[in-house]
Amino acid sequence: MTNLHPIHDRTVQRAERETANGHRAGVVWLTGLSGSGKSTIATAVERELFAAGHFVVLLDGDNVRTGLCADLGFSLEDREENIRRIAEVARLFVQAGAQVLCTFVSPTRQIRALARSIIGAEDFMEVYVNTPLATCEARDVKGLYAKARRGEIKGFTGIDSPYEAPEAPDLDLPTANQTVAESAQQLILALRAWNS
Ligand code: PPS
Repeated sequence: MTNLHPIHDRTVQRAERETANGHRAGVVWLTGLSGSGKSTIATAVERELFAAGHFVVLLDGDNVRTGLCADLGFSLEDREENIRRIAEVARLFVQAGAQVLCTFVSPTRQIRALARSIIGAEDFMEVYVNTPLATCEARDVKGLYAKARRGEIKGFTGIDSPYEAPEAPDLDLPTANQTVAESAQQLILALRAWNS
């Protein structure tokens, strides 16, 4: 990039912000099928961290796909661009000292590797919201699985578009065997270990 001069060394440094906030900055990246519980778990975690005084930010489809990524659909190319933009935003928040919770299907290993490389492996915790397809489909909170099965949505993750489970996530949440509160607690414990 020519003629661009980032001002990092003149701004308040990340380490100063982390000291002031009392926690390290970083990204918790929740991946899983639609309806797996990513947003529900992250919302519970966000509430608890906020109550503890943390600088915490939740990025999810509701606040990203309606704005920053409103021009994108669900082809693999668009999903990759969606995740690229989100990862860049998350990186900016990390530099600003935040704990960022990202809840996106992020269906392929390649897409998640892209997010990890943009954010930086040391600041990236991968959490697999491990809910079987049958459970997500049975819940079908938004009615999208039924539409996908009827062929009214093309390229729906888990139906006619791939979901590649993480091979070695930093944390695996088997949500079919535990409550939302238990999953949230497990995530908060993992974050605490990451912070220390
Ligand atoms: S991705 O793959 O990471 O870019 O997807 P994401 O931005 O997380 O958006 C997933 C949510 O969009 C709804 N939706 C679809 N999901 C998967 N495949 C297709 N074709 C699709 N069309 C719409 C769906 O409700 C997802 O919401 P969540 O919150 O994950 O259930």
